[in-house]
Amino acid sequence: VGEITVRLATADDAFGISKVKIDTWRSAYKHILDPAVLQGMSLKRDSARWKERLRKADEHDRCFVACDGDKIVGFLYVGPNRFDEFDCDAELQAIYVHPSMHRRGVGKRMLGPAVEFLVGAGFQSMVVVVFRDNPLGTSFYKSMGAKFHDAGTLEIGGKSYADESYVWENLLDLQSELRK
Ligand SMILES: CC(C)(COP(=O)(O)OP(=O)(O)OC[C@H]1O[C@@H](n2cnc3c(N)ncnc32)[C@H](O)[C@@H]1OP(=O)(O)O)[C@@H](O)C(=O)NCCC(=O)NCCS
Repeated sequence: VGEITVRLATADDAFGISKVKIDTWRSAYKHILDPAVLQGMSLKRDSARWKERLRKADEHDRCFVACDGDKIVGFLYVGPNRFDEFDCDAELQAIYVHPSMHRRGVGKRMLGPAVEFLVGAGFQSMVVVVFRDNPLGTSFYKSMGAKFHDAGTLEIGGKSYADESYVWENLLDLQSELRK
């Protein structure tokens, strides 16, 4: 493993992003999601969706990738909060690190520039929604200072899964933590 660099993603990164997402879902969510959902994920379809999403991303959204040389090993997507029920202006919409690279600080490294962008753009607080039975996600968010907000459910492939939301009420606190 070489040095990990974090940079803004472009639409050309869609395939690498999708590969990380699918490998990570199949590993981290195998005890959570219906096997049919995991088997049915297609790199071709998912990367086409990401290409569109990245092309359409406007000035309120940012996608960052973490790279080991040319290889994308993680990605993060932040933007405006999409849920009415949370009193937060920003949302951590996705964060994935390839299972082969977990617990080496890659997630934290990606959060730094994302929070710098959000604070610079005037966002004040941030929510993230995570599967309740995903200790990788929940332990990471708690370690980054997020507070448990509430429990809910998420629909995927016609099934309902228990989820939890975590909130950073003041992004300035997270920013100073990440600058250390
Ligand atoms: C959540 C995720 C992005 C974290 O990325 P990561 O690069 O492994 O995390 P980091 O190495 O930056 O961890 C930072 C800190 O978070 C905490 N943490 C991360 N993973 C942890 C784990 N498995 N158990 C306990 N604490 C953990 C630790 O405090 C860690 O610091 P430390 O290693 O110095 O103790 C990664 O585990 C992942 O992709 N998980 C699967 C997908 C997922 O859950 N995404 C979120 C969906 S909502």
